[in-house]
Amino acid sequence: RRRQQQDGALAGKSVLVTAGPTHEPLDPVRYLANRSSGKQGYAVAAALADLGAKVTLVSGPTMLRPPAGVTFVACETACQMLACVKAAAPFDAAVCTAAVADWRPEVQAGQKIKKTGRDDVPAPIRLVPNPDILAEISAQGPQRPALVVGFAAETEKVVEHASAKRQRKGCDWIVANDVSAGTGVMGGDNNQVILITAQGNERWPHMPKEDVAQRLASRMADWFAEF
Ligand code: CTP
Ligand code: CA
Repeated sequence: RRRQQQDGALAGKSVLVTAGPTHEPLDPVRYLANRSSGKQGYAVAAALADLGAKVTLVSGPTMLRPPAGVTFVACETACQMLACVKAAAPFDAAVCTAAVADWRPEVQAGQKIKKTGRDDVPAPIRLVPNPDILAEISAQGPQRPALVVGFAAETEKVVEHASAKRQRKGCDWIVANDVSAGTGVMGGDNNQVILITAQGNERWPHMPKEDVAQRLASRMADWFAEF
């Protein structure tokens, strides 16, 4: 019933969703990455499109099919993801679910890195920081989306760390989740989140990622209705 009431509630709104991991190449055949499946982000993109939003899904490499009715932009690295986001801006809202690699190898070898001998010691991999896409979107001045939502994956002190992240990055809402070993969140089908806004914290029940996505899309529609 609630969804029927909200039919078309985000019509005319353009929304960016970032999703998936990023891959940071070491050489043409190797990369650094993380365990993100992209499921939560793709579900958010689908839920926003269901409410009539014009969704741009900028995604790192995943095994998923882009949801119907969204503009899909594929990328690989964090730097590429930022470039794709900038090229598609501006947006009325942004939801950053991507598990962006925090660092990338300082040098990317043009050819496959070879062993030199049987007992050779590999050179250490030097890392440099990647751009923070959520922080950049949150600081965009007049082009800033009216509502910027981040996701925070934490393995301990979930609310404390996620609230600090909301402040540090300058986004409006943070969807915090516990990804510690045993929760099965990373790569799994369910999620247990806490929505953190300037008004306070709301713990949502353990539920499928699709339901988290629908509830978030619905909350965003309510926010725009009052905005
Ligand atoms: N994020 C981003 N670009 C980055 C890193 C993070 O856009 N380079 C976004 C994620 O999409 C997510 C939010 O920031 O919405 C929080 O990501 P997270 O990895 O939890 O935060 P970090 O600031 O990277 O902190 P840490 O990994 O140290 O916990
Ligand atoms: Ca991070």
